[in-house]
Amino acid sequence: MRKFDFNFYLEDIHTRRNIKLERILKKRFKGEKVSTPSIFWNAKEYKLHNVELFQNLSLLEKKFLLAELSQDRIREAYHIEKSGIAYGSKMTMLSETMDERVLYGSFTGDEARHFKLVEKYYDSSQDQDISDNSFLSFLSQMIDHAPKKALVFMIQVLLEGWGLEHYSTMANSCQHEDLKGDLKSILDDEVVHHGSGVILFEEDGLSKEERTIILSSLTLFLQMVQVGPIGVMTRLESLNKDLSQSQKRQALTEMEAVEDTQHKLNILKRLIKKAGATSIIEELDHKGYFKAFELDQMVSCLVG
Ligand SMILES: [Fe+2]
Ligand SMILES: [Fe+2]
Repeated sequence: MRKFDFNFYLEDIHTRRNIKLERILKKRFKGEKVSTPSIFWNAKEYKLHNVELFQNLSLLEKKFLLAELSQDRIREAYHIEKSGIAYGSKMTMLSETMDERVLYGSFTGDEARHFKLVEKYYDSSQDQDISDNSFLSFLSQMIDHAPKKALVFMIQVLLEGWGLEHYSTMANSCQHEDLKGDLKSILDDEVVHHGSGVILFEEDGLSKEERTIILSSLTLFLQMVQVGPIGVMTRLESLNKDLSQSQKRQALTEMEAVEDTQHKLNILKRLIKKAGATSIIEELDHKGYFKAFELDQMVSCLVG
């Protein structure tokens, strides 16, 4: 069997464009670009409505913060869908049956469509360097290097299962009707992507190397969740300089950060369980990775 050496250009492919192809793609994927900055979700969506520091902001500052938070979500979705195209392409080539190849071929097309849908809401004038986003770097590293079975688990079972929850919450609470509709149409595909991952994954058939990679990737990912709503807090801090530890503590309490984080970890645990990865759950549970950080731990994870 011939071996291929790939470079997926996962982090920076979006900075290179081909104007001639853009015209063809425009015909293929219709839809107008939405003017940004826009507020797609209100304060309640981030549990900011109960946070005193938020309530004390001026109307203009509130609008600015909510637009930034909306764009944070869109930016993340944009890069996730972009990674989905790379993932689908890799899996199409690694397919061992014709059924798998058709599945992943269509999957790649779905992700390309999702990418073009999300792109309409993406403010490309913003900083495009994503190397400091730990989740996106983690995702691209994994797609680049992890073996097939570990990828099925991490991407389809876990992240797309997680994406289903995340996109459906985003769609339900979205204030922009077009974006709401686009998110719902993405969700229809993601159900199939996640469902096929659950079928394809079997914990019993994992090699030692695949299991080790899954465990270390899961550990990294769960740690990113355990720390709580760092992104929202960072945005809030940018408008409230020099916050004391107790002010941060209070904001996180008002945001119900610990309860919310625990809820997310419970969803992740349920997804892993659904795929029958029982021994993996046991090992991670034993080490405490399904437990949200305490308030003080969350505060200490905030920079500044
Ligand atoms: Fe997608
Ligand atoms: Fe997907």
